[in-house]
Amino acid sequence: MSDTYNIGLGNNEPDTRIKADSDFVSFWDDQAKNLFWFSPWEKTLDWQPPFARWFVGGTINASYNALDVHQDSKSQKPAILWEGENGDSRILTYEQMLTEVQKFSNVLKSLGVEKGDRVTLYLPMIPELPIAMLACARIGATHTVIFSGFSATSIRDRVYDSKSKVVVTADGGYRRGKIVKLKEVVDEAIEGFDFVKNVVVVERTKNEIQMSSKDKLWIDLMNNASDNCPAEKLDSTHPLYILYTSGTTGKPKGVLHGTGGYLTHLNSTFKWAFDIKDSDVFFCTADIGWVTGHSYVVYAPLLHGATEIMYEGAPDFPDASRMWDILQKYKATIFYTTPTALRMFMKFGDEIPNSFDLSKLRLLGTVGEPINPEVWRWYYKTIGKEKCPIIDTWWQTETGGMLISPLPGLETIPLKPGSGTLPIPGVNITVVDENGKDVEPNTKGYLVVKNPWPGMLLTLWGDDEKYKTVYWSKYENCYYPGDYALKDSDGYLWLLGRADDVLKVAGHRIGTAELESCIVSHDDVAESAVCGIPDEVKGEVIIAFVVLKEGVITSTNVLEKEIVEKIRTDIGAIATPKQIYFVSKLPKTRSGKIMRRLLKAIGNNEKIGDVSTLEDGAAVTEVQTAFDEIQKSIKDSN
Ligand code: WTA
Repeated sequence: MSDTYNIGLGNNEPDTRIKADSDFVSFWDDQAKNLFWFSPWEKTLDWQPPFARWFVGGTINASYNALDVHQDSKSQKPAILWEGENGDSRILTYEQMLTEVQKFSNVLKSLGVEKGDRVTLYLPMIPELPIAMLACARIGATHTVIFSGFSATSIRDRVYDSKSKVVVTADGGYRRGKIVKLKEVVDEAIEGFDFVKNVVVVERTKNEIQMSSKDKLWIDLMNNASDNCPAEKLDSTHPLYILYTSGTTGKPKGVLHGTGGYLTHLNSTFKWAFDIKDSDVFFCTADIGWVTGHSYVVYAPLLHGATEIMYEGAPDFPDASRMWDILQKYKATIFYTTPTALRMFMKFGDEIPNSFDLSKLRLLGTVGEPINPEVWRWYYKTIGKEKCPIIDTWWQTETGGMLISPLPGLETIPLKPGSGTLPIPGVNITVVDENGKDVEPNTKGYLVVKNPWPGMLLTLWGDDEKYKTVYWSKYENCYYPGDYALKDSDGYLWLLGRADDVLKVAGHRIGTAELESCIVSHDDVAESAVCGIPDEVKGEVIIAFVVLKEGVITSTNVLEKEIVEKIRTDIGAIATPKQIYFVSKLPKTRSGKIMRRLLKAIGNNEKIGDVSTLEDGAAVTEVQTAFDEIQKSIKDSN
């Protein structure tokens, strides 16, 4: 108990938890009233397990709640303080955002986009991305944002799956001073797709691009567009977006989020977790291509009429002081980032952040991976100067918003480095064993959510069955997120990483199955297994084991390069393994399951003795033999 921190912001509203505990449905009903609805709902929750529909019958619009509602009191307030990687900057007020969004809504309409259509957005971190998202939301089109680091093949799969009518991209994006040619990637990705009617191109880097008859420049379309486009009155359950994410199957899943429930969840968690005030300057470093960017860069801050910083580039470009420089320049009060970024900053030493004025900061947050207590303490001391609470927020693409986090805007509780503390009010979370029974305190088990919550995904796009099996089949009527956790004797939750075959590399979700099927699609590869091993900065890095087909004579050096290239073109650079081992066979259990723990031990240069738990069905001698064989074949191939 000594490593606890009694730091709060003086808020204490115990009634909120009492109300939430007594009746979570009526609790969320009250929370939803904080938003603007065109017409009220008839039913708060329609729960046909495992499908939840919130605020049924109510009509709402995300763009209206993000922009229109602030026009009376905050029209001149900056919504976005944008900082380009190359030092460019732009400020967009709430009034300007509304104008731009209405114009782009009209542009989309002029291109034939209608309510219910999908629009793919493949853009760098520039204001046009949230503008395009909100424009889709305004007219009831469903946006599907693809992280600008993904490859042409990844985009092709996603555009095909969502059947997007329009793709919005840029000529290029800046990344570490270099130009990433996004338009070129899109050209390759949508070749032959007749259902894509138009590609809209924002000129960001002014590199040369090929324009076909489908292609239109953003600026030309905007210049001709009217700035009046009333927001559509949409059903609460209207699909706001699809966000593709990796799971345990070979293909990414299209997580589908609705509108009213999702916005309610974000509106409440943003207030509770960040204690947001009108005077705050909020900075979330997430890329909008991931869910954190959707929820806590685009929707939540704008629902609250907050001022936020949006940064285009790499966190350490041109040097390790960039983040602190931005925080100082814009007088940021709240900083929300990832453990990977913090581990990197910590390695650079205290001198750099110490040379900046970070005195305006009053609250810090992290998301995406477990944070090591050592890094938490560094964040607390060096960045927060021992005066800022740290919120370690646990959630997923599927959950829409935070489910576990300290909530300084709601209550003051002691913080423990490395623990996400308690579930948010109105959500019932516990830790269970393989049979679904609650485990004893301080025992590792599986995290489960026992009731539906408003930010919950509607389903997987076009695949209700997969939605049921992936999340709801392990335990009856319980949502299974795929994470290990434990509850300590104070009821605090500690998140212990993924329990399934999903990796978290620098906070990015990568499915082992997806990566393996990519490697196996190389002509010379017979079989492959990938796993994650711990990394000081990225949390986890990928190692890959590859079995070649009989008779392959190409050298492993060449093959290694080809495989890496294949991964980069099929998925994207984020999935590049740190090391590829060529082996003669993969260690498997009798039931055919790959012994990943054994592979991890090899990747970590550990002895077999360190592999404490054996995979099911395998005997000690078998594991030992497999381990020896695999090590020998690695040596032979070198
Ligand atoms: C992991 C990111 C520990 C977890 C918002 C989860 C975390 C996955 C935390 C979802 C945290 C997220 N502590 N682990 N605070 N936050 N995770 O969909 O394994 O990219 O299942 O959403 O990230 O990743 P996703």
